[in-house]
Amino acid sequence: MPRGQFYSFEGIDGSGKSTQAKRLADLLRARGRDVVLTREPGGSQGAEDIRRLVLEGDPERWSAETELLLFTAARRDHLERTILPALDRGAVVVCDRFADSTRMYQGLSRGDLRGTVDALHGMMIGIEPDRTFLIDMDPSKGLARALSRRGGEERFETFGMELQMRMRDGFRDLAREFPDRIVVIDGDRAPADVAAAVAAALP
Ligand code: TYD
Repeated sequence: MPRGQFYSFEGIDGSGKSTQAKRLADLLRARGRDVVLTREPGGSQGAEDIRRLVLEGDPERWSAETELLLFTAARRDHLERTILPALDRGAVVVCDRFADSTRMYQGLSRGDLRGTVDALHGMMIGIEPDRTFLIDMDPSKGLARALSRRGGEERFETFGMELQMRMRDGFRDLAREFPDRIVVIDGDRAPADVAAAVAAALP
């Protein structure tokens, strides 16, 4: 079956991964590819609606389990309506966050839900990116960047430095768990240098 490529970007808040996702999309378009640049939570109408439910308002609004279900519901809609149709027509999908964020944020940060995250992923999502770029960054630098541009979405960034440190370690552990898929990219460099490292790590 003809199939496009699926790339994701991961990292702590403020790591610069959104900038890098956009740069990779631009690079691939310049190479003549049909590129869909998208993000999670979001990337389809329904998933953007769920994004507002989960990222805005009182941070204590949802239990960890409910939050996991909302992120997974958003991902399922995004998959059905945006990602799979693009891959089916042979496009490249560049996604700012995907299931590794759920493995980290819901699986690790709010109690040990990793087993549940993986079970739900297996049942409802079932695909992994062809390559995941982990933009690795010192949390003190990442947090400063995230806080300097915060809008209404304070859900996660307010959890602060301790969480960011655990997230960074967790993401690096995840890269060791999936060594064929996840490439660790040093994000503490000029954006053009980070982009060059990403391009060099394309499969
Ligand atoms: P994002 O818009 O990527 O924020 P940032 O650019 O600041 O990194 O993601 C919003 C938040 O949602 C982020 O703190 C991570 C969180 N998140 C989860 O907790 N679980 C998930 O499955 C996803 C996709 C994101």
